[in-house]
Amino acid sequence: MTDERQNSKRNILVTSALPYANGPIHLGHLVEYIQTDIWARFQRLRGNNCYHVCADDAHGTPIMLRARQDGITPEELIAATQKEHEADFADFLIDFDNYYSTHSDENKEFASSIYLKLRDAGHIRTQTIKQAYDPEAEMFLPDRFIKGTCPKCGADDQYGDNCEVCGATYDPTELKNPVSAVSGATPVEKDSEQYFFKLSDFSDMLQQWLKEGHVQSEVANKLDEWFAEGLKDWDISRNAPYWGFEIPDAPGKYFYVWMDAPMGYMASFKNLCDKSDINFDDYWAADSKNELYHFIGKDIARFHTLFWPAVLDGAGYRKPTAVFCHGFLTVNGQKMSKSRGTFIKARTYLEQLNPEYLRYYYTAKLSSGVDDIDLNLEDFMQRVNSDLVGKVVNIASRCAGFITKKFDKQLSAELPETGLYNDIVAAGEIIAGHYENREYNKAVREIMAQADKANVYIDENKPWVLIKEEGREDEVQKICTQGLNMFRLLMTYLKPILPATAEKSEAFLNTELRWADINQPLLSHSINKFKPLLTRIEKEQIDAMTEASTENMPTEEITVSGPLADDPIASEISFDDFAKVDLRIAKIVKAEHVEGADKLLQLTLDMGGDTRNVFAGIKSAYKPEDLEGKLTVMVANLAPRKMRFGLSEGMVLAAGPGGKDLFILNPDDGAVAGMKVK
Ligand code: 2FM
Ligand code: ZN
Repeated sequence: MTDERQNSKRNILVTSALPYANGPIHLGHLVEYIQTDIWARFQRLRGNNCYHVCADDAHGTPIMLRARQDGITPEELIAATQKEHEADFADFLIDFDNYYSTHSDENKEFASSIYLKLRDAGHIRTQTIKQAYDPEAEMFLPDRFIKGTCPKCGADDQYGDNCEVCGATYDPTELKNPVSAVSGATPVEKDSEQYFFKLSDFSDMLQQWLKEGHVQSEVANKLDEWFAEGLKDWDISRNAPYWGFEIPDAPGKYFYVWMDAPMGYMASFKNLCDKSDINFDDYWAADSKNELYHFIGKDIARFHTLFWPAVLDGAGYRKPTAVFCHGFLTVNGQKMSKSRGTFIKARTYLEQLNPEYLRYYYTAKLSSGVDDIDLNLEDFMQRVNSDLVGKVVNIASRCAGFITKKFDKQLSAELPETGLYNDIVAAGEIIAGHYENREYNKAVREIMAQADKANVYIDENKPWVLIKEEGREDEVQKICTQGLNMFRLLMTYLKPILPATAEKSEAFLNTELRWADINQPLLSHSINKFKPLLTRIEKEQIDAMTEASTENMPTEEITVSGPLADDPIASEISFDDFAKVDLRIAKIVKAEHVEGADKLLQLTLDMGGDTRNVFAGIKSAYKPEDLEGKLTVMVANLAPRKMRFGLSEGMVLAAGPGGKDLFILNPDDGAVAGMKVK
């Protein structure tokens, strides 16, 4: 930090990446919103101006198709999703100055005007290219909406851009047996004219900008690789039908969602400016001296460190002061998983746990780098309980009672250990430096080291013993005054992370927690009654959260192929398609556990002479012995599928939300095995 920055009030605008408006916020998303929120709160606590804006990313094919699938308009979908997102963020104490949508008048205006500036400056060109087209759905297909067999390893049901089995990346035209995930039709190649942003025009500018240290070193290294490959022009257009903004001079062509998404930062801020006295140009004009930071995940670095600065530059705006990338979240050391119950939605978490626990844990793990962070649920519980409840809150609860009951809520007129108090004040600058540099894990370590000192002081001075000794009341009052003043410092340092607990502490200490006031201890001051600030996490809460996040349909052990697989865009089927499904009643002659499978039972089904082996993900609901001899409904003409445990020759139909409530379709006893039901 320069001296100038330390002495004058900074004007800062920060953004978090805009979540797509077709899915819920989960704990992976929250790493970023919590990271940004803490940084913005820290800046404000230090006396700077800091605005944090965000919005829903409301355009693109997935949103269009999701709305179609749900039978609602895209407008209805994005409005409903935004409402949920805003509620989740508010409940996680993410304090946005403005939360908006990329589907807004302001954003439309930015998209048009920026495009026209780029076009008029010669940075847009058109080119006819071949693209995958779905002749049935009559639309061009994004890579994600083409599925087929991996050209490298032969795995079925892989996306058009990369294989989740072997990790290969490829062009959708290389996929074997490609099908459209929208209609199931085989895509064809079709020519179409597209609009390209000439990124290569900005190569020198970008290389210079990157040299100036606006990105982390890990990101700069990655960018060097991209520069070495040469900057390719960027296709910013999509053909109708598309959910987005139409390009002004190109009817039937729409801006690609990634073109108008980052403009959503400007649009949200503009909307804030129009509601307040903030001047938009002060933050976005080419010569702005104010600071602009984008917090993002490492997966979208290319958009924010190449395309976005180039677009801003080309349209005559300022470039970001810095782009801060973070890593991904793993839970218990692995990718979040629905079947393991670790794909945890924000709302599911909130139903069990206090948001500040997660804010604290993420902070304790986050550094300024791009490494992934792990939420280990066992460690999470222990760390929150021992640090926040055991160390910090404990200081207040050990001292408060004496002051309120014995000393009429009055703190003493002096501190017995000014040196110790001043040490903790001095640590404030180190802690502030860590916050500023986004070395949150170091900030937390330093705060907890100070909390340890405070606890040692109380342990050594034992006010609960002294109070029983005659004539030592004064000492007890001073020791507790010392304790509460140290607690006040710690809570001031923790205020960006624990805003709700800080607020309760302010009520209890009867003072606002301000970083600027830390030099001045609270003396001869009247406090309020202490109320418990934070309670321990109980194991049951964690278990309930993972239980509620577990999807019991067998996602790992049985995979459904085709467009109806766990893809967000299940498509309609025709009556003819449905008529192809051979549903039959079958007798379960044998039902057994499958070694090594969490969810499967192995069933032997008799369809009136023809016996089939079927693996069914119904273990959570049925004991094998209860199934034998029962009749059920099965799909008899499903192609056999090789599974880890053997060949599955059909599928048993089941219904219900999952877990214990999963019911195989069970026709009345007495039905004739082998009878066709269709
Ligand atoms: O990756 C995503 O989730 C995008 N919706 C992020 C957009 S950030 C910004 F550029 F709009
Ligand atoms: Zn593969």
